[in-house]
Amino acid sequence: MTPVVLALPGNEVLAGSLATQLGAELGQSECRRFPDGESYVRIDTEVRDRDAILVCTLDRPDPKLLPLLLMAAAARDLRAAKVGLVCPYLPYMRQDKRFRPGEAVSSAYFATLLGGAVDWLVTVDPHLHRHSSLGEIFSIPASVVHASPLISAWIREHRNDAFLIGPDSESLQWIASVAEGAGVPYAVLHKVRRGDREVEISLADLAGQERRTPVLVDDIISTAGTMIAAVGALKKRGWAPPVCIGVHAVFAEGAHARLLAAGAAEIVTCDTIPHETNRIDLSGLIAGAVRSLVAPGPG
Ligand code: R5P
Repeated sequence: MTPVVLALPGNEVLAGSLATQLGAELGQSECRRFPDGESYVRIDTEVRDRDAILVCTLDRPDPKLLPLLLMAAAARDLRAAKVGLVCPYLPYMRQDKRFRPGEAVSSAYFATLLGGAVDWLVTVDPHLHRHSSLGEIFSIPASVVHASPLISAWIREHRNDAFLIGPDSESLQWIASVAEGAGVPYAVLHKVRRGDREVEISLADLAGQERRTPVLVDDIISTAGTMIAAVGALKKRGWAPPVCIGVHAVFAEGAHARLLAAGAAEIVTCDTIPHETNRIDLSGLIAGAVRSLVAPGPG
């Protein structure tokens, strides 16, 4: 039977695009808040015996999570064949260890919560550092889409003289493949995080690359502390203002404006979180991953 795509609030553009690309029906639903702050959820489209594909990116996750869990539970209750989740930005992945005694290991608990609510998950470049794959924390099929081929394509088209710079050793995993796809050189800097908002960056030896356009690439731009420190370090060495590319445009607390003020020449992000800096459309890659998890529609 034809799958049904259901958008949680704010995810209508991606949901529409996925429905078209998958030959699925774009379902109708309502999510709103009661005056007392509780969530109301209703699914208007018949989901019985059909795959239900919920679309909900989870930046600023806490207020979005309960409506999502209610919709997933409703879809199961209404006898959907399977309930899947397209969650382009998967939150809580950075708290992947008990850094201080008594802390919650949120990445694992969050995975347990989502894994109990849906039958499969598709996400984009989750922040995996101490976990080597989502399979370590999810017990459901969890498919990861990598943005790197399309970031490489953007660089080839717009900055083919780029010198790619990863702000820290964690970025090595994607910067190397982005650089290879774009056919440009790269280096990785050294970062020490002093707190939620404070980071220090020291430059590697970048000699010989000064004539190229510096392009910083990171997975998440949250407070932008990492990018701002990297922009500052490059500036001190007399480099041109860099282009800053992030997969996930979290931009907490005015971070976008602060990064521009710090001297970024241009900020480019993928569309995993709707934002004015979105330039790289990942819906085709996401649709490909979903296609392998659901029964095909007639289109
Ligand atoms: C952490 O290692 C990540 O790859 C990012 O560098 C980090 O999450 C960015 O956070 P912020 O923008 O707050 O510095």
